Amino acid sequence: MSEPLPIAVLVSGTGTNLQALLDTVHGREAEVVAVASSVAGAPALERAEQSGVPSAVFARAAYSDRAARDEALAGWLAERGARLVVLAGYMELLGAPFLARFPGAVINVHPSLLPSFPGLAAIEQALAYGVKVFGVTVHFVDTGVDSGPVILQRAVELPDASEPEGVLTALRPLEHELLPRAVALFARGALAADPENPRRTLVDRAAGEAGDDGGGAIRAGEG
Ligand code: GRF
Repeated sequence: MSEPLPIAVLVSGTGTNLQALLDTVHGREAEVVAVASSVAGAPALERAEQSGVPSAVFARAAYSDRAARDEALAGWLAERGARLVVLAGYMELLGAPFLARFPGAVINVHPSLLPSFPGLAAIEQALAYGVKVFGVTVHFVDTGVDSGPVILQRAVELPDASEPEGVLTALRPLEHELLPRAVALFARGALAADPENPRRTLVDRAAGEAGDDGGGAIRAGEG
């Protein structure tokens, strides 16, 4: 296998998705070289420390505005050598100048089947709408809110769901599988935009099969 891809993970909270990355792709397809939190004392920071990964806090309040925060954050991630930025429960928006520092290399995990229920409280939104099928999306990040091209999606039928906790319990394992899988595919160079429709992310089947991409990833456009 080729050298692991240096990645940074941005967090704000518990960090279970960070943990999934540390437990699966870290030291294999990818090397987590930096963890940055928007919240001081976030439990995710403890997870980084436990794995010996450098971490830092970039709280919005410590900077004059969001652009200044983004610039400092991007500078630190670049200094650490990150070539992919993974948003794993990161509760802040990133501006265009930040995204321009990591073109096509910022991805996010979201607990709904986008484009349904973007933004905050996705599970609550879905429950309020009364849906019977829930799901998880891993997507590229653009300047909109959860609006970038889909990489992987997975659905789960929960026809009797009524409480966010139950839905979260069902979705968490899907997130913890799909996010590392998307990182591994990215690291192997197996993701590309369809020239005929750049919204559609093509997954190189051969490159995907070179590693552990079995087990039901739904390729964007098929699912
Ligand atoms: C996840 O549900 C993710 O989809 C959303 O924020 C949550 C983060 O959880 N964007 P964790 O901090 O990774 O445990």
